[in-house]
Amino acid sequence: MLIVAVVGATGELGQLIIESLLVQAKDVTVRAIVRKSNSALDALKAKSPKSVEIVLVDYASAASLDAALKGVYAVASTLQGLEEVLHTVQSRLLEAALRQNVKRFIPSDYSYDFLTGNFPKNCNRNSEIRKGFHKKAGSIIAASGKKIEFLPVMNGMFTDLFPVEEFQIVNYSERTIAYFGPHANVKQEFTTYRNTAEFVAYVLVDPKPIAKSHLHISGHTATINEIAALVSKATGETFVAKQALSLGFTQFLIFVLKHFAKKGEVMPQYQKLQYGYCMALGLSTWKTEDLHNNMYPGIKWTRVDEAVKLEYEKKKKAGLIKKRSTSSGIGWFVAVGAVAAVGAGVYLYGKK
Ligand SMILES: NC(=O)c1ccc[n+]([C@@H]2O[C@H](COP(=O)([O-])OP(=O)(O)OC[C@H]3O[C@@H](n4cnc5c(N)ncnc54)[C@H](OP(=O)(O)O)[C@@H]3O)[C@@H](O)[C@H]2O)c1
Repeated sequence: MLIVAVVGATGELGQLIIESLLVQAKDVTVRAIVRKSNSALDALKAKSPKSVEIVLVDYASAASLDAALKGVYAVASTLQGLEEVLHTVQSRLLEAALRQNVKRFIPSDYSYDFLTGNFPKNCNRNSEIRKGFHKKAGSIIAASGKKIEFLPVMNGMFTDLFPVEEFQIVNYSERTIAYFGPHANVKQEFTTYRNTAEFVAYVLVDPKPIAKSHLHISGHTATINEIAALVSKATGETFVAKQALSLGFTQFLIFVLKHFAKKGEVMPQYQKLQYGYCMALGLSTWKTEDLHNNMYPGIKWTRVDEAVKLEYEKKKKAGLIKKRSTSSGIGWFVAVGAVAAVGAGVYLYGKK
């Protein structure tokens, strides 16, 4: 029986990887490695008691990590956090994986492809943290004298986040879709949580060696103009692309908002803007024919407009779709920017 491990398994992506493994793979034991279980993970275990093992781990203990990874073929980390998690905890995890002769290690990246795009330095704090871990991982693997497939998976933005209000991309009252930068014709990549999980599940159980530096998938590659047209068709409403911020003003806002971010916050406001900014550069978008989407033919890739349509219908049913308004969702960014700029000025002046 093949054993594969999902680390951080109470998290959003971790749970979906486990669900995908249970659907896709026969004769596989999924080891869910967590600090503490939760009701959703307990429910997965109750549904498939023979296929799911929940293992509680103490990341500070090498013995605990060794026990968790004993007999494991491949491991996917889905940990979320900053350096103390993505460097310290993941390094310990990788060291244990090497001690236990695990064959494949997927680090917790699941991002736009910051590995191949020629991004400006410090474009995105969270990507820099992940790049830092790759460097550490290289040294850890070399020092061990062992071989392991270190296989980041790059998937663009999670499509599911595109239509939700929190991300301020789709404005359902205005019928607009926001873009950063000078025009809405930059190709960007989107993959749902579920498609990413399905792909990772296939990678985990793949019996063949995967001789690649990383894997790059995209459920839907499109410009904001193309997405607006598809969403219009899907919903029967006319959605148009609308500039959120110029690239220069985005950089300015990032600079200002950094001063207000709380220490240790994984996704402060400036960090979200950094993702928007970096993706808008379009530097990491691959040609469709170069993607690894076809490695596992069982996946049905979801398009962005399908995800927006679902959210639109949910809102419509709940009576939350207003008549077209002229107020700008982008006003929010501008308002935050203005307040933040004044605040930063006062703060910096006060420090003199
Ligand atoms: N491309 C995109 O648009 C996008 C969007 C969102 C996320 N992501 C990426 O996808 C990956 C997974 O994200 P997610 O949304 O599934 O994450 P999540 O649900 O927020 O968290 C994942 C897991 O991280 C673990 N964790 C958090 N703090 C920890 C700590 N201090 N020590 C040890 N473990 C800790 C938890 O594990 P336990 O189960 O042990 O509690 C948690 O279940 C991350 O790499 C994230 O950056 C990408």
